Amino acid sequence: MNFSDSEIVASVLSDIDYCSTKNADEADIVFVNTCSIREHAEQRVRNRLRELKLLKKQKPLLLIGLLGCMAERLKTKLLDEEKCIDIVAGPDAYRNLPDLIRTAIEGKKAINVFLSPEETYADISPLRYENNGISAFISIMRGCENFCSYCVVPYTRGKERSRNAETIINEATELYKNGFREITLLGQNVNSFKCQENGLFFDFPALIEKVALINSSLRIRFATSHPKDMSDELLKVIAKYPNICKSIHLPLQSGSNNILELMNRKYSRDWYMNRIESIRKYIPECAVSTDIISGFCSETEIDHKDTLSLMEWAGFDHAYMFKYSERPDTLASKKYKDDVPEEVKSRRLQEIIDLQHSLSHKSNKKDVGKVFEVLVENESRRSKDFLSGRNSQNKVIIFPRKDFIPGDYVNIKVSRCTSATLFGEIV
Ligand code: 5AD
Ligand code: SF4
Repeated sequence: MNFSDSEIVASVLSDIDYCSTKNADEADIVFVNTCSIREHAEQRVRNRLRELKLLKKQKPLLLIGLLGCMAERLKTKLLDEEKCIDIVAGPDAYRNLPDLIRTAIEGKKAINVFLSPEETYADISPLRYENNGISAFISIMRGCENFCSYCVVPYTRGKERSRNAETIINEATELYKNGFREITLLGQNVNSFKCQENGLFFDFPALIEKVALINSSLRIRFATSHPKDMSDELLKVIAKYPNICKSIHLPLQSGSNNILELMNRKYSRDWYMNRIESIRKYIPECAVSTDIISGFCSETEIDHKDTLSLMEWAGFDHAYMFKYSERPDTLASKKYKDDVPEEVKSRRLQEIIDLQHSLSHKSNKKDVGKVFEVLVENESRRSKDFLSGRNSQNKVIIFPRKDFIPGDYVNIKVSRCTSATLFGEIV
């Protein structure tokens, strides 16, 4: 999401003749795009600001801007707390950056943290400044109104709004023409995408089908799906089109009904299991990944065991796993006590990570001997003689270079694996 936002910011800035550099030493402005989802994310931003403060001492004319969720959450407090910051812009204020920069150049602090119920940046063509030229993200909606009790996103990114479908299809078509071969449709909950235009109604299944039809050699991925809204209709569309990748990210958060209720996730353990069964029914070869939070308020050993048993049952291919981090002003911070001791959170998280490690390894071992179509992405990090790409299931596969270049499709037979990577030979 943030990466996608940075590409919009780069586009707005290029219109006023700024170009990007990776080297902060040669920059006139440094923008830090921020995330507030866990305290740790905010801490890293504070550390980065400390480094930038030193740089500003050497380059007094350097402007420092803070973008995104942390800007939205802390607003003017940031300007008081971090004296080196000149510009604060929330997620819906990026069009206003040229004015904010002008104000800052005049020596005044500049801030815009208004959240808009409409802004989707639909007409701004993202500047894909740090890209392999093969894979790109397209943001199809912004904001979230699910109000999971632990989550800061509804407060920092505002109301849910879908982008106009035609602009999404045009952007994907343009990317394909420019050599891109994989796009990921992004939103906090893509399953609730909806858009009405010229008498036509698009929901997410209709949108993804349209995008898949652009060209059969353009791969389509999407993230994230909320289990409460994951429909069989969508699964049928994924099954129908070979170029819609067989990989679904379906955040579980917890396997305990009690905790799911407190988290305000609006589904039960049984509902989640039913969604997994549907995925297996319509798309047997589909990989499923998830997000898990350990140590949410009042979580008992039994709740934790429910999470482990559900992970085992689902056999997730991959997971992002976190310790619960209380965020100010969320429902959980107001209603519940963050009462699971730090060492218990850590121990439970480690058990979750260990289990996922073995599940990923088991899943990868099942792929040994199978042939997958791989989209070539990069040179392997370890050796120039090998290339790296991913299969439809989003698993990384390393294979001998031969004459292939990024953007090619190549069939690879998997010969061995680790828990994180598949290795194979060209067939
Ligand atoms: N603490 C820990 N993890 C969180 N997530 C969201 N909010 C929190 C929080 N307060 C995790 C969820 C979500 C992912 C993007 O981040 O698992 O799916
Ligand atoms: Fe946060 Fe829940 Fe919205 Fe995801 S669906 S962004 S976890 S409130």
